[in-house]
Amino acid sequence: METLIISSEDEQGISLAGEIIRKGGLVAFPTETVYGLGANALMSDAAKKVYEAKGRPSDNPLIVHLADPEDAEKYAVTSPVYYKLAEAFMPGPLTFILPKKDVIPYGVTGGLSTVGIRIPSNNTANALIRAAGVPIAAPSANLSGKPSTTTAAHVIADLYGSIDAIIDGGEAEIGLESTIITEDHGKIRMLRPGAVTKEMIEAHGFEVILDKAVTEKLDAGEKPLAPGMKYRHYAPSAEVTLIDGNTDNVNRYLAGFGGRDDTAIICYSDDTELTEFENSFVIGARADKENTAHRLFSLLRELDTRKEIKYIYSSVPDTTDIGLAIFNRLVKAAGYRIIKTEQDN
Ligand code: TXA
Ligand code: MG
Repeated sequence: METLIISSEDEQGISLAGEIIRKGGLVAFPTETVYGLGANALMSDAAKKVYEAKGRPSDNPLIVHLADPEDAEKYAVTSPVYYKLAEAFMPGPLTFILPKKDVIPYGVTGGLSTVGIRIPSNNTANALIRAAGVPIAAPSANLSGKPSTTTAAHVIADLYGSIDAIIDGGEAEIGLESTIITEDHGKIRMLRPGAVTKEMIEAHGFEVILDKAVTEKLDAGEKPLAPGMKYRHYAPSAEVTLIDGNTDNVNRYLAGFGGRDDTAIICYSDDTELTEFENSFVIGARADKENTAHRLFSLLRELDTRKEIKYIYSSVPDTTDIGLAIFNRLVKAAGYRIIKTEQDN
């Protein structure tokens, strides 16, 4: 299949992309979190194509993207809590799981009777949804199991030739996927952390429960509420290991891998005892967590293109604010492999 590349500034191109989606085709598009692979959320057959293009297991539901928070009425059973949080965080990087209405086919929700609703703040995403005139079901626009895509070049690398069009809107601003939440007996249960943080939701008077799958490996047979959280996601080809402990101990441990051709060390610009090594990859300043979030998938993808790299080591990040989302993606890339430095035991 010939894949059309459309600039986000090309208004006619966006109209055409909307038409492609309305008629059942697939268009990758930028959002403020990561790139999405969009399909008409009212058509089961279109959703099927999404699963095929990504190589995604069919029990893993797609998020439905809308232009306005109020549009959720047509597709889901809303609640006062939905509107309270929509007021605070939508449009933006938040997905709210609600009971679905019949118009949303089970082929979109992986057979679940709920649907994830998200209103992206990215202008191109919003224009595309309006141009399509239908809700857009969209997972991240990557091959299943690979890190999410944060540039059109990443999407081209994974999906060129197997989808109808790609809208190039530059780098995704945030770089990590949306926060996913659901209501749980008056509290908020967080199924996936993102740029709308636990602390931000708590500031609006809600108690936030972290689903176990956010930080821990589930036992065999245990099912996460967000089906996608059970898959080894966000994973580069190399084996990723996280090192936990105080900064000095962790850096001493990481320095032990310095200079190895088959190993990459991910570190911060502050870690001057590591930055000197040829095989260290600096993600940015430790304190700038937004930047770490923005660069993480891009860096994992870059390391993926270096076939000589078989092992990747990184420290366990601070888990407050957006740090929790960074930790969640890293620990999943690592398949939950964390080594505690000896001195900290
Ligand atoms: O930022 C994002 O959310 C991006 C952009 C494109 O919007 N989308 C995204 O989609 O990350 P995806 O498919 O890669 O991840 C969606 C996650 C999966 O873990 C899935 O299991 C969960 O959301 N999910 C979707 N619908 C759900 C539902 N009804 N109940 C529980 N989990 C759901
Ligand atoms: Mg994904």
